[in-house]
Amino acid sequence: MAETNTERYGNASMNKIGVGDWVCTPRERELVTEVLDSGRLSYGPKSRELERKFADIHGSKYAVLSNSGTSSLHVAVQALKELHGWKDGDMIAIPSVTFVATANVLLHNNLLPLFVDVDPYTYNMDFRALQLMMHRHDNIRAIIPVHLFGQSAPMKEIGVWRDRGYYIIEDSCECMFATHFGKPVGSMGDIGCFSFYVAHLLTTGVGGIATTSNPDYAAKMRSLVNHGRDGIYISIDDADNKSAEELREIISKRFRFESVGHSFRITELEAALGLGQLETYEEMIRTRRRNAMELTTMLKDLAVDEIALPSTAHGNTHSWMMYPIVLLNEDKDGLVNHLEERGIETREMLPLINQPVYGGLDYDTLDYPVADWINRSGFYVGCHQYLTADDIGRIAEAIHDYFR
Ligand SMILES: Cc1ncc(COP(=O)(O)O)c(C=O)c1O
Repeated sequence: MAETNTERYGNASMNKIGVGDWVCTPRERELVTEVLDSGRLSYGPKSRELERKFADIHGSKYAVLSNSGTSSLHVAVQALKELHGWKDGDMIAIPSVTFVATANVLLHNNLLPLFVDVDPYTYNMDFRALQLMMHRHDNIRAIIPVHLFGQSAPMKEIGVWRDRGYYIIEDSCECMFATHFGKPVGSMGDIGCFSFYVAHLLTTGVGGIATTSNPDYAAKMRSLVNHGRDGIYISIDDADNKSAEELREIISKRFRFESVGHSFRITELEAALGLGQLETYEEMIRTRRRNAMELTTMLKDLAVDEIALPSTAHGNTHSWMMYPIVLLNEDKDGLVNHLEERGIETREMLPLINQPVYGGLDYDTLDYPVADWINRSGFYVGCHQYLTADDIGRIAEAIHDYFR
């Protein structure tokens, strides 16, 4: 593992305790150097290897890289819309607490988000609230459960709707290497989408990946990431070692476009960083779990009267992308300012339904009491692998200090 915050900055008491960090390991540097020496930047061997390994770990046959989790979600939604003939204005159920990208990709695809309230213990989509919402409209086509903060949404219960003909895209942009009753995230729906953005679990700067076991979905998404190009020629390697007849067909089709696609491609440089980090992901998750457990132990005395601490749902393993805290009796502002003034970084717990951008959508905020509570009183701090025991102690101490 690379150096810790303390090793990097010296005196632990002066460190900023960030929600995420990234340090280039010697192995990542070696893999990036291999790319630089290879003369190959566009989709090539490193990207293919990352797709193969990531799909294997996440229980899927295929994986398609893109330049962000948002791009992966965008092509996942577009692929299903095109292949299954969804109409403009059709609805897709999403949780009322998630990053705006989950809703935005729907609007970009001329679809409408149907917000569903979340569970007060895990903050993931509440399957009982989903059940009520699913009976309110007759043009719902799919559900996008979001595996928030590092653990799976209740896919066992949500999966019932898949058996009834609804499609499921798992927004797993905040969750990797985690399971739900033994099944990896990204393998339980039709498509799973992950993010490699800064402060995520694998960090390549920008980047995303979509997993699926359906070859038609994989081919459509790969085409959409590449301008909607005919799948016969996506990368320059596709013309290698072909018979004269095959080559003639490739040449005739390589500038043919089948969908209104995007330039959502990634380079071999990001793939090299991802591959390097994939070699040590188990250690990274172990450290995050340990940090989260330590924080929970240290904050337990406040859990009855002052704050709700995160819990792991039955059947889940947790990858702890961050450590969410929701105040029980007050808005978050006082505690958030107290922590930030002490160099402890915080972030909002993904408020969605109070965003000005969705003001024109038709929904009643009274349908979302849990999301409303989280929007007012929820925030998260880091529990990532570069934080030391001292850092974790400092977070707990600062929170205690606020309530004293
Ligand atoms: C739940 C969720 N969905 C989608 C995204 C978008 O990922 P990216 O930033 O890679 O586009 C994020 C990013 O943080 C996220 O948290």
